[in-house]
Amino acid sequence: SDQSAFETDVWTLTRFVIETGRQAKGATGELTQLINAMLTAIKAISSAVRKAGLAHLHGLAGAVNVTGDDVKKLDVLSNDLVINMLQASYSTCCMVSEENKELIVTPKEKRGKYVVCFDPLDGSSNIDCLASIGTIFAIYKRISEGEPTDKDALQQGNNIVCAGYALYGSATLVALSTGAGVNFFTLDPAVGEFILTERSVKIKPKGKIYSLNEGYAKYFHPSINEYLKHKKYPEDGSSPYGARYVGSMVSDIHRTIAYGGIFMYPANEKSPKGKLRLLYECNPIAFIIEQAGGLATSGTQRILDVQPESLHQRVPFVVGSPDDVNEYLSFVKKFS
Ligand code: AHG
Ligand code: MN
Ligand code: MN
Ligand code: MN
Repeated sequence: SDQSAFETDVWTLTRFVIETGRQAKGATGELTQLINAMLTAIKAISSAVRKAGLAHLHGLAGAVNVTGDDVKKLDVLSNDLVINMLQASYSTCCMVSEENKELIVTPKEKRGKYVVCFDPLDGSSNIDCLASIGTIFAIYKRISEGEPTDKDALQQGNNIVCAGYALYGSATLVALSTGAGVNFFTLDPAVGEFILTERSVKIKPKGKIYSLNEGYAKYFHPSINEYLKHKKYPEDGSSPYGARYVGSMVSDIHRTIAYGGIFMYPANEKSPKGKLRLLYECNPIAFIIEQAGGLATSGTQRILDVQPESLHQRVPFVVGSPDDVNEYLSFVKKFS
């Protein structure tokens, strides 16, 4: 084969999705179309994110969303991109977005069989200071006939057909799973394609990093503060853990998968169910983390087993290396 640096048989995400799609029995190619449409939206968001400072896209859009977040201009642009690209793929019947209070029902003539729950821009508080941000999505098959309803979106995370996240970091990366492991794809901006850079990613059984916003320590349940004390002042002679917290979940999660450790957004007195939303943040990430061999719990149950009741409900969220999550659960038992 030629020795040039230029790969001539490269595995793009598009090729990977087509390959996977063809292996799925009775595949109609609809999921392939859907994932490719999501990728187009992600490439456009990546471009907007990197131009935001130049294109006056920083700052507030002047609205507050259903979960009380100040909406940024880039939140709105990203949201519009995802909705438009997905509806134009003729593969969705309805969607749930962080930025839309109600179910987004696809126009009748453009409907397909999939439901998409997504966070168009995760980590909006980090946009104006140029810290990494992301996009998160989970795809389900519809369960209703006729008019799509909330029920199509209120499915357990166990029903996820495909989930992924995009990280707009020092490089733009997509992590994707269709239930047979997790693969990482890195955007080559010169070609505009996502290239397979890591196959069947597995998380370490145990890490050395804990990641949460300790600014809420005053409001945490004792099990959290006792666990943190054990990480900082281990009595068993092991060395203390390092602390890392970006404040963009996708960035904190990607580091947790890449390096191992634990990420926590626990309940606190101010928000008894924590902050992260089940449908478009916790379920997709829990699916990916489990596919990488990690654990994802609310503290009382597996995230993917939670039966959703409302589109924007929050759930306490602790995920990461299995040994670390299990050690945290032992503190929940000891201190509840
Ligand atoms: P979003 O920007 O989509 O609303 O999500 C922000 C979330 C998540 O990305 C991050 O883990 C968390 O907010 C940070 O919250 P705190 O600032 O309370 O730590
Ligand atoms: Mn938000
Ligand atoms: Mn988010
Ligand atoms: Mn968001």
